[in-house]
Order: sequence, then structure tokens, then C-alpha cells
Amino acid sequence: MSAPSAVAHPSYRLRTARLDRAIQATLRRNVERRLDALPWDTFDGTRLTSSSSSKIRDAFGFYLTQMYFTEASSPENLAALSAASPVAQVQQAFAAQIQDELAHGALLGRYVAQCVGDTHPREHFVSFVGRASGKWLQGAHPTVGAQAVTMAIEYYASNLAEALLARVDEPLLRTCLQDILKDEHRHRVLAVESVHLLKAAGIGQGLVGRATAALLLPLAEAWFRHVMNGTLRRRCGVLGIPFGELYERSVEAMRVDLAACVVDDEAAVA
Ligand SMILES: [Fe+2]
Ligand SMILES: [Fe+2]
Repeated sequence: MSAPSAVAHPSYRLRTARLDRAIQATLRRNVERRLDALPWDTFDGTRLTSSSSSKIRDAFGFYLTQMYFTEASSPENLAALSAASPVAQVQQAFAAQIQDELAHGALLGRYVAQCVGDTHPREHFVSFVGRASGKWLQGAHPTVGAQAVTMAIEYYASNLAEALLARVDEPLLRTCLQDILKDEHRHRVLAVESVHLLKAAGIGQGLVGRATAALLLPLAEAWFRHVMNGTLRRRCGVLGIPFGELYERSVEAMRVDLAACVVDDEAAVA
């Protein structure tokens, strides 16, 4: 949908106060962030965890490299979601978040090059397919796409980053992960409130839209449950992260948050 027709849509003025606060916090963070201020020269690869064997280092390297690709590519998804939305606040939310994700991509790109020592990182096939299918989903069904991307790059990804942080001793990597997580919790609010507003605006809520959602959402979930988690278990199992359990917890947390959302300015829709 082009910008002028989105602006003309009757749902353009739908909004929530919670989303407003999250957008303002995101804009402040974009101004205040200083990536160069991180202690880049202090990295000590022998202190990743209490036992930094080569298998542990490889697992960290694989995970952080794939995380880099996810973060670095998410601005493209967010820009598409922002452009397709007929709700002004959702456009603003996804657009504001782009700067955060660009910063995460830059931070992880530098970490992978400088600390993992991989100046030509390669995206794993499974990461690529997950990212490309997320983009396709957004075109097929913006609300399902937003929900699937929310799960992939906010709930599950941030729970994985938290699990990783709990296993890291090395100070620079801890600082990088904490810096990213500071944004991801706020992104959950941006994403969940945006999905709710898209639904309130009726996007993808017709008979065909609901049938498509009933088909596509379980497929997206099955991809993470079986394919993505299988790859993570195979490449990063040595880290002892319970991928399956974390995924189910993430799905449940997102369902609870989606159910709890309230459009608190419905009078403005008239
Ligand atoms: Fe991110
Ligand atoms: Fe995010």
C-alpha cells in the first residue's frame, strides 16, 4: 500500500498510549547510543565461559554470526511492515525500531569481525530461509507477517540472547549482549502493540485473511520448532541452552502479551 492511501485509511489514527511511550523511548535511545564507547579493545577470547574449549568458541561464533545476519537484515523487514501499515503509529513504531536494529547489526558485525575473527561471515541456509520466508509472509499477510517476525526477532531471539548472556563470562561480549537486550524488551512492546493495532484496523481479519493466518502461523511456528531449533541444537548444543523449552516459553509469552493489549483510544477511529 502506498503512503498516501495508507494515510487515507480510516484506521490511520488508531493508537495506544503504551506504544507512544515505547516509540518515544526508542527515539531517545537512538540519540543517546554510543557504540564506539563499548570496551572493544578489551576482548579476551580465552574468557568466554569458565571453559573456553574450541567447541565452545565455535558454538558462540556460529550463534553470534547468525544473530548478526538476523539483526542486520531486520531493518528491511521493518521498513516493509512500516510502509504497508495503514496505522500511523505502527508506521512510526517500525520506523523508529529500524535504527535500533541497524545498531545491533553494526555491533554484532564488528564483534564477529574483530572478536570471532571472521571478516567474511556466512549466513547459514536455515537462517536465510527463515528470514526470506518472514519477508514473504509480510507480503502475503501483514498481520501474520508482523506476528511471525515478532516471534523471530523479538521474543525468541531475545530469550536466546538472555540464555547466552547467562553463560558468558567475557566482559565485552556481556556488554554487547546487555546493550542489545536493553532494546529488545522495548521492541516486544512495539511489536505486540503494533500487531494488535493492525488487527484492530482489520488488516487480514476478513474470512480469507483468517483462513490464511490459520494455515501460515502454525507453519511459521513449526519451522522454528523443528528446523531452526534442530540446527541450533546441532551447532550450539555444547552451550547447554534448552532451545525447545525456550521456544515454547517465547510462544506462550507472546500469546499472553497479545491477549493483554488494549487499544485505548478507540474513539479516535471514528
Ligand atoms: Fe535487535
Ligand atoms: Fe529487536
